[in-house]
Amino acid sequence: MHTSVTIAGVTFDNPVMTASGTFGSGKEYAEYMDLNGLGGIIVKGVASKEWLGNPAPRIAETYGGMLNAVGLQNPGVDVFMEEDIPFLRQYNTNIVVNIAGKTVEEYVDVTKRLQQADIDMIELNISCPNVKEGGVAFGTDAGMAEYITKEVKKHAKQPLIVKLSPNVTDITEIAKAVEAGGADAVSLINTLLGMKIDIYKRRPVLANRVGGFSGPAIKPVAVRMVHQVYKSIQLPIIGLGGICTGEDAVEFMLAGATGVAVGTANFMNPRATVDVIEGIERFMDETGVEDVRELIGALE
Ligand SMILES: Cc1cc2nc3c(=O)[nH]c(=O)nc-3n(C[C@H](O)[C@H](O)[C@H](O)COP(=O)(O)O)c2cc1C
Repeated sequence: MHTSVTIAGVTFDNPVMTASGTFGSGKEYAEYMDLNGLGGIIVKGVASKEWLGNPAPRIAETYGGMLNAVGLQNPGVDVFMEEDIPFLRQYNTNIVVNIAGKTVEEYVDVTKRLQQADIDMIELNISCPNVKEGGVAFGTDAGMAEYITKEVKKHAKQPLIVKLSPNVTDITEIAKAVEAGGADAVSLINTLLGMKIDIYKRRPVLANRVGGFSGPAIKPVAVRMVHQVYKSIQLPIIGLGGICTGEDAVEFMLAGATGVAVGTANFMNPRATVDVIEGIERFMDETGVEDVRELIGALE
């Protein structure tokens, strides 16, 4: 059975990765599973300097998912390179570093500093709904999305994945813009903007008032967007949004994804990625698929 896929020249033993922000840098998960089994680890977003994130409460449960307004809390790229890369490099898996910034200069700065790190790919997050500046502002405007992709790409020797926001009228416009800006791949979707209200206090549950909605409930939106983008651009796609099982992952691949990432499911089940990998293999076995690449975009 052939399970490896290649995304922008990087080979993954299997299509399954961890979604940024839901797996840290893997340390907390290493006691539950063998990190060597993952196609790749997409780490929590890092910025050029430490970010404290948003005030609490910043997490709320919803039907079929959750809302978060963590606000890209991170220790900054220097601490990340010192503490996390050596840990991750012990494992035979690809390291994808998700980057964040409040200005284009900050994104460029973190990219420049990452050039000294032994990593496989960079994922540019222009889609976080929980930071005031930067973040989603870049991901919802095609001109800005193209510009920031171009600026970051100039300084990155690693292939560049751009992570798209679903909080737009037409995601294919942004996908085309980042393709024009020189992206090597796209990942989608980031969280949908959501809100939960405590009816007794008549106040929003999250201190930030609104947050990013993720988990199984968003899967149909994500599958639809992956398929739209697959038909609009030539770049490889990493699909994510609500993936919990191998069948979910196969759905994304049929829609056009070459790789998939597991996010919120990691919080419910620390071995979710293992279940997804085994589930894809079981599906292949049962349906006579010899090579996982046969599934990519194979929707009839
Ligand atoms: C608590 C939390 C933190 C997240 N942090 C990041 C982040 O730092 N960078 C990023 O690009 N996406 C971040 N995301 C978005 C996820 O990577 C993913 O795109 C989204 O949750 C949809 O996938 P899921 O439904 O499988 O969780 C975060 C999501 C959650 C729930």
